[in-house]
Amino acid sequence: IPHPLNIAVAGTGYVGLVSGVCMAHRGHHVTCVDVDVKKVTMMQQGISPIYEQDLEELMYLNKERITYTTDYKSAYKNAEAIFIGVGTPEQPDGSADLSYIATVARQIAETVEKDCLVVVKSTVPVGTNDKVEQFIKDFLPRDGENDILGKHKQIKIEVASNPEFLAQGTAVRDTLEAPRIIIGTNSKTAEETLKKIYEPFGLPIVSVSRRSAEMVKYASNDFLALKISYMNDIANLCELVGADIQDVSVGMGFDSRIGSKFLNAGIGYGGSCFPKDTKALEYLAKQNGYELRTVKAAIDVNKDQKIVLYKKARKRLITFNGLKVAVLGLAFKPGTDDLREAPSLENVPLLLEQGADVYAYDPVGVDNFKKRFPETMTESLGRHGKGSIRYVESPEEALEGANVCFIFTEWGEVKDVKPEEYVRLMRTPLVYDGRNIYCVEDMKKVGVEYYSIGRKQSVTR
Ligand code: UDX
Repeated sequence: IPHPLNIAVAGTGYVGLVSGVCMAHRGHHVTCVDVDVKKVTMMQQGISPIYEQDLEELMYLNKERITYTTDYKSAYKNAEAIFIGVGTPEQPDGSADLSYIATVARQIAETVEKDCLVVVKSTVPVGTNDKVEQFIKDFLPRDGENDILGKHKQIKIEVASNPEFLAQGTAVRDTLEAPRIIIGTNSKTAEETLKKIYEPFGLPIVSVSRRSAEMVKYASNDFLALKISYMNDIANLCELVGADIQDVSVGMGFDSRIGSKFLNAGIGYGGSCFPKDTKALEYLAKQNGYELRTVKAAIDVNKDQKIVLYKKARKRLITFNGLKVAVLGLAFKPGTDDLREAPSLENVPLLLEQGADVYAYDPVGVDNFKKRFPETMTESLGRHGKGSIRYVESPEEALEGANVCFIFTEWGEVKDVKPEEYVRLMRTPLVYDGRNIYCVEDMKKVGVEYYSIGRKQSVTR
């Protein structure tokens, strides 16, 4: 490529690692920095610390151009651009925690030895880039101080915003084939450097101010969260008035002003972004004396939606005490082992509290779930509330002898279970499907008592 740059990336989570690897894949020299020694050692051995399609292959293909290290000093010292991809977790009040960003900014100020562009990729509240810039200026050594050679005197560090829109499970593809790259800069030089970095990607670039770039990210994520919550709201109404949300969404999706994507009703959105970013934007509004009512509505609907099936089942069964409950899918969506804000995390504790014996299946999310809910092998290992939990290797194993089944994630392995299998395997074929993966009629035909989201229920008995 015409202008390969020396790039450092701080943080090797989904955002940092995927961006770093993709920039190397497009010809730049990339150093990925993380404080976690265990993670760095894994990556040095070619192992990705996150489960993400194509990522390890790209790590391998571009190994000549990527270095993994905990030594931020050597990484930042000579970098022409430093991308910040560390986390901005949600705080109890809904605001974003910027302490990791602040730490990296300070480390940058204390180590860089030549002009460089700091690019904030993490999702940050509007105005954060300004703060990062000020912070770096504050921490740059002044003339004479810790700086015998006087090197720092003329160093110019600029800060730019470059939000990331990748989704988990399709992160590599989302990055290499992004519909647009958003760059937010306050200077021509910063804009040109970012354009140079993204030139080899061959994607449309939208260049705006830093604050607008920061807002594009939140406004986009929150719009999608709103779109889902809207469909969930309409789905609940569909059930009451005898309409079918899937038919409704197909009908709506043909209107290109609405678009056919993200119209799937279900048991609510989870993941690391929508729940956090809706709350963060609501908080930002509040801080500025404004009430963001639309986003607040999305948050409220989502909270209720996550337990809509649990409530329905509880009404039908009266109690879960002593029942064998099959749980199919733990991850917040297929293609990832991530459990953040997953509906399973709301529902499983409720079931356990009620004395259910849960048999949970997920093709990749079990290890993470086990950390929060260790397996109850025998009585002596202790129960969770009144209930117990076991992890099984297949949907069939979970369904064997079950009194009721909940579907929380639309994994291919779950979709592959044929309607008649529920009848064959379960003690009572009672299924609550949070992802609308079956056709209501098919379930009815074989005799499954089937409840889903926003559609007719099939009760044959
Ligand atoms: C999302 C955004 O898509 C991405 O652009 C942003 O950078 C980060 O947040 P991600 O959280 O990885 O990505 O997953 P996504 O596929 O968007 O799904 C989010 C949640 O919405 C999931 O829980 C999913 O089940 C739910 N969802 C999605 C629906 O309930 N209905 C839909 O139609 C689409």
